[in-house]
Amino acid sequence: IPFFTFQGHLMNHLDWGDLTPETFLKEYWQKKPLLIKGGFKNFIDPLTPEELAGFSMEEEIESRIIAKGEDHMWSVEHGPFESFDDYGDKDWTLLVQATNNWSSETHDLLKPFRFMPNWRLDDVMVSFSTPNGGVGPHLDRYDVFIIQGQGKRHWRVGLPDDSLETLVPHEDLKQVSDFDAVIDVITESGDILYIPPNHPHDGIAVDNALNYSIGFQAPSSQELISTFADLMIDRDIGNSRYGDPKRKPTDKPEELTHSDIVSLQNFMVEAIKDRKLFNNFIGGYLTHNHHTLEIIEPEEQLSHQAFESLIASGDIIIKPVLGIKALYNCDNASLFVNGNKFVLGGDCVDLAKKIAQGRPLTAFDLESSLDSLNNVNLLTTLINMGYWYIDQSDEL
Ligand code: SIN
Ligand code: CO
Repeated sequence: IPFFTFQGHLMNHLDWGDLTPETFLKEYWQKKPLLIKGGFKNFIDPLTPEELAGFSMEEEIESRIIAKGEDHMWSVEHGPFESFDDYGDKDWTLLVQATNNWSSETHDLLKPFRFMPNWRLDDVMVSFSTPNGGVGPHLDRYDVFIIQGQGKRHWRVGLPDDSLETLVPHEDLKQVSDFDAVIDVITESGDILYIPPNHPHDGIAVDNALNYSIGFQAPSSQELISTFADLMIDRDIGNSRYGDPKRKPTDKPEELTHSDIVSLQNFMVEAIKDRKLFNNFIGGYLTHNHHTLEIIEPEEQLSHQAFESLIASGDIIIKPVLGIKALYNCDNASLFVNGNKFVLGGDCVDLAKKIAQGRPLTAFDLESSLDSLNNVNLLTTLINMGYWYIDQSDEL
């Protein structure tokens, strides 16, 4: 049997062949591109082109259509789209960001990559390309696994090369000049390409094709430092001033000395080194979602008594909103969910772990956690914020 079932639907299983996640990380991850031919045997597309088109018609879902015109003219249009009639039957591709936030079957494509920590995985972008369609040769700043779904695509992948020129054939489209390919393949359903950051690549559809890009999160220091600074401003911290009680007189007041530069730099670094503040910051930062989630706050706030009696009634399942990011940190007894921090009581870690795993939780899973008020409060808060919801209809 080439697939497993999970939550009632069929699941794709990644066959690493001669590799294992461990050897993959050692030999390829962030180092060189790889084609995993037939990585998914009998791959089951988690959605159809029609469903993808449907997502691109939604206001809160980010989508683009990139089309090739005459004379190397490229066009880029942003969703939401109302119709696709104008695009014809070739030369264009539709790309939908964070489709895993809206399709649980697509979200399951992340599962085979759970040998990476939650925080490193970001989202699944899905593209539907008509023959000859593609986004053109380009670089990404992130690692990506591109899974071939239905249809075929001609993929070329090269190595980082400083001599490549940056091309901007449209203000919303960055490409690179032609590159030498080290992988040149027609991908078929179930094939997986791994492409490290800054490796030029280009995929041109052979026929109508679906591709799933598993994207990774890798913060830049610019993002980290500016977000950290925003947090300092929000919390009104870091207001104490630079001090120099050991200063000696100078005979060159016009000079900015090396030792002053270093001491000011250290002063800044010390602010970031505040471990408690940094833990809070980084957990919030890494669980912040870059795309809209389907968060629906309950119309009425649930009291913890009401929640406890629901659990006691037996047949309920608590599920996270699709794509919501959660992490827990033991040293700090904290759970981070969608940018928020929850302080855990000593007895919460077990529950926090289950929550951060993102699995649906049954009354049975929860029972052992419910003798602690901390736990009950944590769950009720997550439900009241709309991050988890009670599903009374579905079976597991
Ligand atoms: C795609 O066109 O499906 C993937 C885009 C990419 O190369 O990142
Ligand atoms: Co790319």
